Amino acid sequence: MDWLFGQPEGPRGQKHRWASTRRSATGLSYATGSTFSNWFELCDRVYIVADLHNSRAADVPEELDMTSTETPNLHTTSTQPGAATFIRMEDSTKQDWQIIMDQHQDLADGVADNVLAQLRGIETAAGGFAVDRLFHSLQTAYRAELDGKDEKYLMCCLLHDVGDLLAPDNHPAIAAAIVKPFVSEGYHWMVAKHGIFQGYHFWHHLGGDRHARDRFEGHEFYDLCDEFIAKYDMPAFDPDFATPTLDYYEPMLRQFFAREL
Ligand SMILES: [Fe+2]
Ligand SMILES: [Fe+2]
Repeated sequence: MDWLFGQPEGPRGQKHRWASTRRSATGLSYATGSTFSNWFELCDRVYIVADLHNSRAADVPEELDMTSTETPNLHTTSTQPGAATFIRMEDSTKQDWQIIMDQHQDLADGVADNVLAQLRGIETAAGGFAVDRLFHSLQTAYRAELDGKDEKYLMCCLLHDVGDLLAPDNHPAIAAAIVKPFVSEGYHWMVAKHGIFQGYHFWHHLGGDRHARDRFEGHEFYDLCDEFIAKYDMPAFDPDFATPTLDYYEPMLRQFFAREL
């Protein structure tokens, strides 16, 4: 049986691209067009996929060939009541944007619920690790809490892998984007770079450069990220380490995302 690390290279016909999309939808690691070395820059873990390329490519049914010219199901929709009236952005007016911005608070108010739903979603994913991603995230936060870290730091811990199902090869960027409006520049940098720093502990097992983080030596937030990995993220795969449930951190998370626009 062949074992593949990261993304296989293959032919670039339509059918191959369809198969690539399907792999991504399963949450398995794949980055079409990336080189192996680039891939190491993007992620902090690898998914080992047994004979994936061959088995999945063989599964592609002919009727789903993307070269098909069959007409898709088309539909129209009705205008939202009280909504802005433009149908092309270039025609929008100040009045339109007043309507839109009046509802922006509703979007902001929904962020906590959406993030909680995503966190509950990563509980379904273990990907070969000893513990699922939510348990790992909770343990990362709780280890930091036991060390006396502040609440914003704990939320960075809880959220640092929240994008694992959406962008498994680039998940630090998702978490960094989520926390950015709510944390300091240093905490944001810590979340954004945690993948490269975590890579020190395993990339060498996969032929990568475990010292890739060295490029950041001397950076003002290097030690901050180094501590996050060494003390909280790196050791947080222990199923026997007593760890709170998500309910424990929910009030703190809601407070973290609460804001008046
Ligand atoms: Fe991560
Ligand atoms: Fe992590």
